[in-house]
Amino acid sequence: MTRLSVNINKIATLRNARGGDVPNLIQVALDAQKFGAQGITIHPRPDERHIRYQDAVDLKPVVHTEFNIEGNPQSKFLGLIEKLRPDQVTLVPDADDAITSNAGWDTVKNQAKLKEIIAGCKNIGVRTSIFVAPDLRMIEGAAACGTDRIELYTEAYAHNYVKNREEAVAPYAAAAVHAHQLGLGVNAGHDLSLENIEFFAKNVPHLAEVSIGHALICESLYQGLEVVIKGYLKKLTQ
Ligand code: PXP
Repeated sequence: MTRLSVNINKIATLRNARGGDVPNLIQVALDAQKFGAQGITIHPRPDERHIRYQDAVDLKPVVHTEFNIEGNPQSKFLGLIEKLRPDQVTLVPDADDAITSNAGWDTVKNQAKLKEIIAGCKNIGVRTSIFVAPDLRMIEGAAACGTDRIELYTEAYAHNYVKNREEAVAPYAAAAVHAHQLGLGVNAGHDLSLENIEFFAKNVPHLAEVSIGHALICESLYQGLEVVIKGYLKKLTQ
């Protein structure tokens, strides 16, 4: 069975837009777990434009499922990992100014750096995952870095799903098989949604975990919109 880790970055974005504490990130994390989420993912970025470093600290005692912290392994980020020791760290090569993660690691070019960081995380008991495109050479490079898992970057799958879903999923299925043969666990994430997730999960073997944020929060808004508007109208007509 594939586990669902809910990425709550977007909740922090919404909160930060008003400067207060609504929606409350801790409550959302608690509720997501109450509703069955098997993990909580956060992705603090250096400018703290959504998740703040303090959020990570505040979330640690309330995440009783799997706590996954993603990010670019710069020194402040690695300091946070050392301090909090989450269940999993997902290393992502995102530029400081990237709107969202937009590429996987070049695990060949960055081999020495990744090897050292991964060894450091494993030494303190934190499982490692590294974000990679479904490219067999990059997956072999990931295995050589000593990581426990890879996270397949699924933006291309989501983009191509609408045109030809069989073609879209094929490289991911091949990548997952190869990773599994090399002893790696397989996670996946980015642009997965209620529309495309079922086909992905059915066709990608050995899929341990997906982390989903943007679509899941947007879908939650849409599915709640009717109830909330009707709730307001009821209060206004009494
Ligand atoms: N995985 C990584 C490495 C990410 O950076 C993100 C976005 O923060 C996700 C997964 C989740 O992507 P989405 O928000 O599109 O579901």
